[in-house]
Amino acid sequence: MDSLKGRDLLSIADLTRTELLELLELATQLKAGTSQPQCPNKVLGLVFSKASTRTRVSFSVAMYQLGGQVLDLNAGVTQVGRGEPTADTARVLDRYLDAVAIRTFKQAEIEEFAQYASIPVINALTDLEHPCQILADLLTLKEAFGTLDNLTMSYLGDGNNVAHSLMLGCALAGVNIRVSTPDGYPPNPAIVKQAVELAAGHSTVEITTDPRAAVQGSHALYTDVWASMGDEAEAESRIPTFQPYQINQDILDLADNEAIVLHCLPAHRGEEITHDVMEGPQSRLWDQAENRLHAQKALLAAILNAT
Ligand code: CP
Ligand code: NVA
Repeated sequence: MDSLKGRDLLSIADLTRTELLELLELATQLKAGTSQPQCPNKVLGLVFSKASTRTRVSFSVAMYQLGGQVLDLNAGVTQVGRGEPTADTARVLDRYLDAVAIRTFKQAEIEEFAQYASIPVINALTDLEHPCQILADLLTLKEAFGTLDNLTMSYLGDGNNVAHSLMLGCALAGVNIRVSTPDGYPPNPAIVKQAVELAAGHSTVEITTDPRAAVQGSHALYTDVWASMGDEAEAESRIPTFQPYQINQDILDLADNEAIVLHCLPAHRGEEITHDVMEGPQSRLWDQAENRLHAQKALLAAILNAT
């Protein structure tokens, strides 16, 4: 994994196909305990301007398990919250930290941070992408089927950050991806184009407004909240539009008999996913959440060159 040393992860598509598959392999080894790389004295900063449970805790635990430290630099406790410019913050934190994971609104903000900082910058979620989530999702899919070959993933719901990284990640990994969103909530066309280009010759990318067509024979059904952080004001008004895209038993019955159900969490039970499906035998939600730890530990080990 030498090629990832010192690198940023701003988009899942920053990785090559080989790097993505090697990261998943390393994550599998870390999870099994057959590899225990260490990077003592390395410090990861968490610069989060939005709430987080999984990303914050899994990055922290991963770093501790690698023998390093974490500093929680959320916007409320730093001058970021008082408007210190990104370019200035980046140049200062660059002098203290070994890597930084940033959760914010605009993708342009983390791109600017990365431009001014020489340390690795990790996208811990922006409005455009959530690449770390997709590392865990692909790991979970691979564990469930023993391979990523000849599989189809179907995402139902909002054409949001998770949908974008899922499309790009599946395209890179050679997993067929179908995305079904209501009219007015499509994925970003530039991301769709990029996913189609990445998938060419390996797998397919399909976009449809028909959720039932999207899940036919699929191996994994995936959803996310209908209103992301920042869109909360629209949460109530979106419900009727998104209702046909709910993952429930009726829609799950159209998928492959062995299909698994994924959700990045947190979930709104009764909206994008029913309680029964979340708690049912095809749900892999808790394995998926656990895999955030193993996948991000692999990422940190690679970019910090843990040995
Ligand atoms: N899935 C995810 O990123 O969860 P958090 O918002 O809790 O970090
Ligand atoms: N799409 C969601 C994901 C949360 C992990 C959001 O951005 O709020």
